[in-house]
Amino acid sequence: MNSFLFPLTYFDEYFNYLSPRKSSKYPFTPSSWWFHCKAFPWNHEQLKIFEAIIKTQSNYIVNAKAGGGKTTLLKALIFLFLKGSKILIVAFNKHIAETLDKSGVLDKSTQGVSTSHGLGYSMLMKNSYGRKPKVEESKVRKIITSEIELLFSGDHGEKEKSIYAKYLSSETLDSLCEFFDFLETPVKREKNPLNKKALIDWQIEIVGACKKTLTSPTLENLESLISTYRLNLSLLNVEAHWNPLQKILEQAILLAIPDVLEKNDQIYIKMNLIDFDDMIYLPNKLNLPATGKNVMLVDECQDLNNAQITLIEKYYKLGVRIIAVGDPRQSIYGFQYAVPECWDELKRRFNLIEIDMSYTYRCGKNIVNYIVDNGYHNNFVAYEKNSQGYVEHIKQASLVWRLQAGDLVVSRMNAPLVRLCVSLYLHKKPAKIRGRADLFWELINMLKPYHETQNDWDGQEGFNNWNQATNKKIQELKNNGQESLADILADKAECICILMNDIGDKCSSFAMFEKSVKELFTDESNGGIILSSIHRAKGDEADTVYVLGYSNLPYTNKAVSDWELQQEENLLYVALSRAKNNLFLVDSPLFKLDKTEIESVL
Ligand SMILES: Nc1ncnc2c1ncn2[C@@H]1O[C@H](COP(=O)(O)OP(=O)(O)OP(=O)(O)O)[C@@H](O)[C@H]1O
Ligand SMILES: [Mg+2]
Repeated sequence: MNSFLFPLTYFDEYFNYLSPRKSSKYPFTPSSWWFHCKAFPWNHEQLKIFEAIIKTQSNYIVNAKAGGGKTTLLKALIFLFLKGSKILIVAFNKHIAETLDKSGVLDKSTQGVSTSHGLGYSMLMKNSYGRKPKVEESKVRKIITSEIELLFSGDHGEKEKSIYAKYLSSETLDSLCEFFDFLETPVKREKNPLNKKALIDWQIEIVGACKKTLTSPTLENLESLISTYRLNLSLLNVEAHWNPLQKILEQAILLAIPDVLEKNDQIYIKMNLIDFDDMIYLPNKLNLPATGKNVMLVDECQDLNNAQITLIEKYYKLGVRIIAVGDPRQSIYGFQYAVPECWDELKRRFNLIEIDMSYTYRCGKNIVNYIVDNGYHNNFVAYEKNSQGYVEHIKQASLVWRLQAGDLVVSRMNAPLVRLCVSLYLHKKPAKIRGRADLFWELINMLKPYHETQNDWDGQEGFNNWNQATNKKIQELKNNGQESLADILADKAECICILMNDIGDKCSSFAMFEKSVKELFTDESNGGIILSSIHRAKGDEADTVYVLGYSNLPYTNKAVSDWELQQEENLLYVALSRAKNNLFLVDSPLFKLDKTEIESVL
């Protein structure tokens, strides 16, 4: 039955305007997508949304469950606006943006899809007269490292030039050198380069947080940011009598954050060099103009940080129409500084009218029942025509043989995915880990400083140094009560150990290692098995989904604040609701899969 009750004139008018695209690599052309939309079994709730959007000029926020048809709806909405309207879909991450882009549904002369970072990047490019800004992920690290080196150079005249000096008395400056000697040189203990690194890492995190939250870096604001996200500095092995000095140093560092940001901005202005956070931060900071859009369709709107919202707000203030879709129960990016009450904040700032939708069209009925019966969602309802669905608890044994092309495997931690992917790869089963644009680079960049050149592969030495330093850092975070950060680092460290043990020994240089590891990662949809952290599985779906480490979920052990507890529960709901027909809940450890077990023959 074709339940399409919507007045089709808008679609028809639009259709006349579209020219079919001939490339076979796209599943759709804009015109075939139009036919698909016409025949799609939209239900009365979705049709009411179409109608509201057409009959009014208001801005809306659509609140629907996981699999509630939000992204599907966004793709159809492109037909509802006047011919020639410049429409931009703002996707949450690169993977969702690429999937939409490659689906072929967009008429690229007037419609586009971009992440908010991509949107900011194009604003920066316009501001640089069309020259593409160069992305240098270690930009802030370089600024801070050179300033810290200067401060502890021991060289009078030089250290006064560092950005911290003006916030420190000359006596303190002298004592700091001693303090730093204490931290850096082998005094009754092995060389401990971590402390200097800890000072640098701490500042990098705070600068990143300021950029994402657009926090004005006054001392008061920074202290509140630190307490909300528990970003306290931890230095290992600091003897008690150094504590007052450490406090003075900490404060000088915080006072100098505006100087770091100023240097950061100047590097863009003078050298056209940015980092990832700059894409959403600099257009706001430099007040760059928003142009060239009539409508913005925002997906996954429950998880935006203040810099992203403020970027979209620039368009809103110019009269660009905003339609946002999301699900407050899928807020999972608090750790990346998403606005805590993002939903209400958006409604307030963009004057959005909320429309609710009731069903999931994705999950089979038994999957929905499982989620509700276990108290993971109290109002998750399957659409009547959904499949029956199947849920089973399984052991990790023979996982490698069980998995089929098209399956989606999700995990709270990354290390089990890396273990599984390497095993699948060694057994010649095509599989990829999602996160080439972020996770892959994070892992490589963690290890890189320990290998002096790209050709350096001096046995185990670089790796051993890295391993030692990282374990200390993990311990240091734990001692400081920063358990969640310790987990994140331990997870990445485990990923690197697996890669070094299973891939590293087949490589003859760091460059070769990097290349081989890169092959395991992707951001695109391909035909093989997809392995994804729950965070990166946002918006995804598959017929068959495996949830690793299920018995340890929700992983609330390390969560302290209410928002962290809530987000862990949300993560479990996101994981379970990726499945259309088959949901396998794997009883495996949270951090490490057992290699022999997953590779065991049935
Ligand atoms: N009216 C409908 N009837 C049948 N199937 C539908 C309908 N609307 C959407 N679907 C299907 O439901 C599935 C989920 O849709 P979609 O991915 O748009 O949901 P979503 O709300 O964006 O999910 P998520 O919250 O995970 O991002 C898709 O396979 C889509 O084709
Ligand atoms: Mg979606």
